[in-house]
Amino acid sequence: MRRSRIFLSPPFVGPEERRAVEKAFDSGYVAPCGPMVDEFERRLAKLSGRQHAVVVSGGTAAIDLLMAEFGVDSSWTVLAPTLTFIATVGPAWHRGAKLVFIDSDATGNMDVSLLSRALADLARPNRSPTQTRRRPRLLVLGVDLYGRCCDYDAIAALCEQYGAVYVNDSAEAVGARYKGRPAGSAGIAAVYSFNGNKIITTSGGGAIVTDDAGIAARARKRSQQSREPFPWYQHEEVGYNYRLSNLLAAVGLAQLKKLKGILAKRRAHAERYREVLDLLPEVEGENHWLSVALTDSEKARDRLLTRFAKADIEARPVWKPLHLQPVFRGSRTYGGEVAETLFALGLCLPSGTGLTDADFRRIFKVL
Ligand SMILES: Cc1ncc(COP(=O)(O)O)c(C=O)c1O
Repeated sequence: MRRSRIFLSPPFVGPEERRAVEKAFDSGYVAPCGPMVDEFERRLAKLSGRQHAVVVSGGTAAIDLLMAEFGVDSSWTVLAPTLTFIATVGPAWHRGAKLVFIDSDATGNMDVSLLSRALADLARPNRSPTQTRRRPRLLVLGVDLYGRCCDYDAIAALCEQYGAVYVNDSAEAVGARYKGRPAGSAGIAAVYSFNGNKIITTSGGGAIVTDDAGIAARARKRSQQSREPFPWYQHEEVGYNYRLSNLLAAVGLAQLKKLKGILAKRRAHAERYREVLDLLPEVEGENHWLSVALTDSEKARDRLLTRFAKADIEARPVWKPLHLQPVFRGSRTYGGEVAETLFALGLCLPSGTGLTDADFRRIFKVL
């Protein structure tokens, strides 16, 4: 019998999700609105410790709506860690913002001392050609790398000091905690992702969580083509079609019920790896979305990658730092060497909730 492929982080779904979809189907709300959407938003607000949640078609859409909210355009500078997925900065890039990348600290998360240096440099008023002093508009995107919260308090304090907007990308961090507070509780707003590989999934989906009623209301409106409350289709601005389907919200609700068990399983997987491997240092409260091994050399990483591939097991290098991506060549970067080292040595290991003892035997045989 052919052994099945072991994936990095496949969806952990079963009869509960199937039943939830059927229930949503039978409700008649086979549309991007309905009772499951409303309920999913209520539950996510509670999970994040926020007043409001707005569910949308993906984490990227959630970030894009926040860029729309703040009117990010070519007059803005957006600061983000270099060690993250491109989706963190994609929406700002599409709007023409100048991107500035910040190196990691030893945990892999954004180095706040470098962020401080960057903000101090960038917050100085520019002299425009007409000699009027212009303060640059700044937005900081914190990222909870691999489900490990970045330093919310330090980033918030720096943003306050330099008048920057703080948005947190908690796409990978559903269920994680920072000093006892939920992931997603930082910044003026934060985002979650429910992509198929995330800690909980709606197959594809995302959310904005915030305490600001205006931000939530405008994001909800923009996610539905910015339609005004008229009997006909009336628009004072151009919106987007980003709302989450009621069927998918039903999957999300079923997943949320399992979250505690999912987190326990992921933690157990990480502990199993940590017994025999050097992992990225543990960050208190992390959700163990992906376990990341630190190998001795790039060669060792590549050798492991090859062996995993031969054994039909999915493993991946950590995010390639954004400042090394051809598309962002020439972007201003503070530091970069730590992220480059983590990229050279780091290997994301299979971390799916449903990993079995037999799976681990195969994985450890390769290791
Ligand atoms: C850090 C980070 N930001 C944003 C996203 C985008 O989320 P989505 O795939 O739901 O659009 C992801 C994951 O895909 C991510 O890992």
